[in-house]
Amino acid sequence: MEKEYFGKIGYVLAVAGSAVGLGAIWKFPYVVGENGGSAFVLLYIFICAIVAVPVFLAELSIGKLSESDSVNAFRKLAHKNEKFWSCVGGMTMVTAAVISSYYLVIIGWVYRYLWLSFSKLPKNLDEANAIFGEFLSQDALTQFICFAFAFGTCMLILSRGVKSGIEKMSVLMMPALFLMLMFMLFYSFSMDGFAKAAKFLLVPDFSKITLSSFFYALGLAFFTMSLGMAVIITYSASLSDDTNLFRSTLSVVGINILIAIIAGLVIFTFVFEYDAVPSQGVGLVFKSLPTLFANLGAIGNILAVMFFTALSFAALTSAISIIEPFVFFLIREFKISRLKSLLFVGSGVFLLGILCIFANIKGVGEYYLVFGKDFFSFLDFTTEKILLPLGGIGGAIFAGYVIKKEALYTLFKPYMSDFVFNLWYALLRYVSPIFVLVIMINTLFFTA
Ligand code: PHE
Repeated sequence: MEKEYFGKIGYVLAVAGSAVGLGAIWKFPYVVGENGGSAFVLLYIFICAIVAVPVFLAELSIGKLSESDSVNAFRKLAHKNEKFWSCVGGMTMVTAAVISSYYLVIIGWVYRYLWLSFSKLPKNLDEANAIFGEFLSQDALTQFICFAFAFGTCMLILSRGVKSGIEKMSVLMMPALFLMLMFMLFYSFSMDGFAKAAKFLLVPDFSKITLSSFFYALGLAFFTMSLGMAVIITYSASLSDDTNLFRSTLSVVGINILIAIIAGLVIFTFVFEYDAVPSQGVGLVFKSLPTLFANLGAIGNILAVMFFTALSFAALTSAISIIEPFVFFLIREFKISRLKSLLFVGSGVFLLGILCIFANIKGVGEYYLVFGKDFFSFLDFTTEKILLPLGGIGGAIFAGYVIKKEALYTLFKPYMSDFVFNLWYALLRYVSPIFVLVIMINTLFFTA
């Protein structure tokens, strides 16, 4: 059985590493772009404060109080219905591993674009569309190689365990990511587009907010904070006793928001500089951004290399955090070695990843549609829209109604005032589960 604990900074950086990923740097900018900019950013921050932070603290307390993997954490802390609760824990952990399969495929795309950044970036949007479309729908081999590379890197880091794998990598990659983004931000200062980007992201125009922006913000807050996936539970099980539980949570949330905003500022500076449209959907990072960089010649290549390196760092630290819960569970439950456990989880992830790659390949993906959706979209939809919110509600209800209030109070007392504790507890019991349930029903029945 492994008993390794994170160092104080190591924990914050590892959890921030899990949080900051494709969500903050890829999804956040395009969702903001599609939802009118600044007012949406404020909405996102508001939702982080009243829903995501309470659920985060709930998952943290489940992990810390039990010091167990996500299945045994629920089992240990539930006084009754242990079976049901351990199934909830098991579901989140399996969902996480499933998400990691397509997440790694997307990291593969990032590698592909990193490679492109060294050579020739697309000169216009038509070319960019063609490159991306062809890569996704025809080039299974390159996709496979890139995916295998991302997968291998993850496995290597995970094989070294919590301290010398996960913590060490996060401590290296997170500051490097920050420095690269800061460099790009400083570069953006010199461009005319920067003022427009700042206005777009930072000066709110509430007329742009619609009901659906509200739902997007909630989904994004959950995904970017790595909630509902057993990740915070698992990492918090290795949390050392001298860590300030509340402050480190706020640091993680702060780092996540800060990086998302910096990434947004950089991306939108380029968008506005070259009069591109901010609401371009998923293609923002893979299609328009490379084209915009290409306008700058050699410095554009350097910026592109930096951007995709930063994105791959952010995404890797997230990917390992999504695989770790299942690995950690197998090690503890069956007393097997980390390597064996990785081999088991890794083979499943690898297989699903390959199925995801072929799901987009023309002439192949059509043969295994699930409920009319291609396999990739099916996994993305069921995990993100159904299982992830369910896992989040599970954690909130468990901490809010099953764990004894005194246990939580004792855990958090050294780090928060009674007022903050009671506020958190009320949000956890009455606000978070209802909010999450409402978005889930809305996305499932009204927008899907
Ligand atoms: N938070 C990560 C991101 O924004 C994704 C993630 C989701 C990681 C769930 C772990 C668990 O990309």
